[in-house]
Amino acid sequence: MKTYMMLVVLFGLMIAASVSSLTGFKSTIRKLHQPATLSCEGKCSGSVKWTKIQKPSGDVVVARCDRTSCSSEEGFLVSHDQYLEGNLSLTVPAADYSRRGWYTCQCDGEDVCAVSLRFEPVELMKQICPGDSLVMDVGIPERVEVVLRRSGADGARSAVSVPLCSVDGRNVHCEPEYEKRVLFSCSLTLTAVKESDSGVYAVRDADNDEIIATHALALTGETLLWV
Ligand SMILES: *[C@@H]1O[C@H](CO)[C@@H](O)[C@H](O)[C@H]1NC(C)=O
Repeated sequence: MKTYMMLVVLFGLMIAASVSSLTGFKSTIRKLHQPATLSCEGKCSGSVKWTKIQKPSGDVVVARCDRTSCSSEEGFLVSHDQYLEGNLSLTVPAADYSRRGWYTCQCDGEDVCAVSLRFEPVELMKQICPGDSLVMDVGIPERVEVVLRRSGADGARSAVSVPLCSVDGRNVHCEPEYEKRVLFSCSLTLTAVKESDSGVYAVRDADNDEIIATHALALTGETLLWV
C-alpha cells in the first residue's frame, strides 16, 4: 500500500514538472521606456512566430524567423544568429504602455513560450499647497481605478484606502465625496486640495490588476498657517 501511495505521489510530481516545463508562462517586469527582452529558449528547426495577444482588436504577429532569415515589426527585434542557437528571445528596444501585455512564441504552430510584459509602477512625489490641484496621468486604454491611501493624522500612512474614481475610456465615475472636485480630460485632476487629501494615490489598471503609477502627495508647510 505504501509503495502504491509513493508511486502515486511520484507520478503526480512528474506530471507537474512536465507541465510546467512545457508551458513557459513568464512575467517580464521592466521600467517604462527601457529595453525589455522577452526571453524564450528552445531549439526550433522550423519557423518561429511571436504574436502579441490583443483581445478586442485581434492578435498581431510582431516577429518571424525561419532557417534563412528573421523579420519583425517596427519596435521589435529578433536575432537570426540567436534563433539558430536556440535562443528565441524577442527584444523591445523602448518599451511603452502600448507594448504591455501577453506575447506567445510558437515553433511551427506549437506554443513554446507565453510571456507577459509589464512595467514597474512609476512613483511620483508631489508637494502642493492647499487649494491647488493634483494632476494624475491616466496613460493607458484599460479601465483605471484611482485609490487614495490616506495619510494618518500624525503624518504616518494610515491603513485607510479610499476609492476616488474609475475611468473607462472617456467615462469617469467618482465617489460622491470627490465628484465635485475632479476634472478629467486625459489626466485626472483633483482640485482644491485639502489636508485630508494627503497620502499616496495609486493609479491601477483594473483590467489587469496592475499598479501603473503612485502619486505621493504631501501638503506644503502652509497648512501650519491655518492652525
Ligand atoms: C538570448 O537573447 C537575448 C536577446 O538578445 C539576450 O539578452 C539573452 O542573454 C540571450 N540568452 C542566452 C541564454 O544567451
